[in-house]
Amino acid sequence: MKEYFIQNAKDFIGEEVTLKGWAYNVRKSGKIWFLMLRDGTGIMQCVVTKFDADEDSFNIKDSITQESSVIVTGEVKEEPRSPGGYEMLAKKVELVSIAEEYPISLKEHGIDYLMDKRHLWLRSKRQHAIMRIRHTIIKSIRDFFDDRDFTLIDTPIFQQAATEGTATLFETDYFGEPAYLTQSGQLYGEAGAAAFGKIYCFGPTFRAEKSKTRRHLTEFWMVEPEMAYYDLDMNMDLAEAFVQYIVSQVLEHRRPELETLERDISILEGIQTPFPRISYTDAVKILQKNGVDFKWGDDFGGADETIISSQFKSPVMVHRYPAAIKAFYMKRDPENEEQVLALDMLAPEGYGEIIGGSQREDDIDLLIQRIKADGATEEDYAWYLDLRRYGSFPHSGFGLGLERVVTWLCGLKHIRETAPFPRTMTRLNP
Ligand code: 4AD
Ligand code: MG
Repeated sequence: MKEYFIQNAKDFIGEEVTLKGWAYNVRKSGKIWFLMLRDGTGIMQCVVTKFDADEDSFNIKDSITQESSVIVTGEVKEEPRSPGGYEMLAKKVELVSIAEEYPISLKEHGIDYLMDKRHLWLRSKRQHAIMRIRHTIIKSIRDFFDDRDFTLIDTPIFQQAATEGTATLFETDYFGEPAYLTQSGQLYGEAGAAAFGKIYCFGPTFRAEKSKTRRHLTEFWMVEPEMAYYDLDMNMDLAEAFVQYIVSQVLEHRRPELETLERDISILEGIQTPFPRISYTDAVKILQKNGVDFKWGDDFGGADETIISSQFKSPVMVHRYPAAIKAFYMKRDPENEEQVLALDMLAPEGYGEIIGGSQREDDIDLLIQRIKADGATEEDYAWYLDLRRYGSFPHSGFGLGLERVVTWLCGLKHIRETAPFPRTMTRLNP
């Protein structure tokens, strides 16, 4: 069976084909009407006249409404004046289902209204552009690691212990015992790195983020590579090559979508490796120089990240943070025991943190100290501590937040449009 899609129109010029989709818009003028047919891959103008179409087909103009489902057969020709550059001369139009009055018209609607109608809003040109860019980013994430011999290790969504602190855990009842939705696959990824050398996991992660911000979702996708015998510098080399690859793939394959979103493409084209690398201590100096009242030891807020990243055209990697503000599993800096071998990558233009990672603590005694300092017990992390008992090894990894990268590359003001059905503190529906 041969299928025809509007995005491939150039392959069937001059042929009579059948296209199946929905009425994006209808314009009528006497003996002729124009149907903008949307099939999910593009939009094609179909011209319906009494001469070329049969009478039943022609009369559909009286009942068709916006988003009615419709099948059209006719010849496709090049037409530079038509959107997309092609046009169909319709021979037959079949109405599959008449749509009720569509709640999203071509006029402007408020964001809350559109989010309530997300299941329909996804049909719009803008949402198409964002979802296609998201798709390309996901593909480039997988290709990057697959091409470098990383093994995919899927990590569990139900977990017993926290990875990124207890404050953002979603608790659920697991046959009478508490279980938590995963905040990160990392700890399991470390077991994977001991088994396979280089691994990655990629899936949904969950955080009970109790504040409303434009950067936080409660459910988001994270890709987490974990590499045996990588130190912090090797970890940063990989993170930099990875992000550069994603940017190059989006520029290569999604230019029309970036244009639809009116993204300033030249800024993305200006991104170049090597990315700048600065220590946390240097970042603090940048803030102080810019008049921010910031003390060594504090954590960066969104506004601080914007000031730091605005010094650079490419993403900047900030490394060696105070231990007190970072997770228990990060390796203590041998040069300064107040610090850990952490890295955060901040996107340019104020888009904030896109990567968090570190070299991991491989000394079991130091690790137990950090676990206890967090108020947890050795038993809580018994299997994880085994990885230090049976062949402990230097290793590193990081996590990249998919929706943060989509926000940045698409140039969006808010993260809520980056997921088909986003979850935030105030949204569980649709
Ligand atoms: O910095 P985070 O918390 O790091 C980890 O989870 C590590 N265990 C990763 C690792 O080393 N394997 O989160 C990693 C990234 C952040 O840099 C950010 O891009 C994204 O995940 N992220 C969020 N994205 C959307 N909404 C949220 N609430 C997010 N929290 C983190
Ligand atoms: Mg982080």
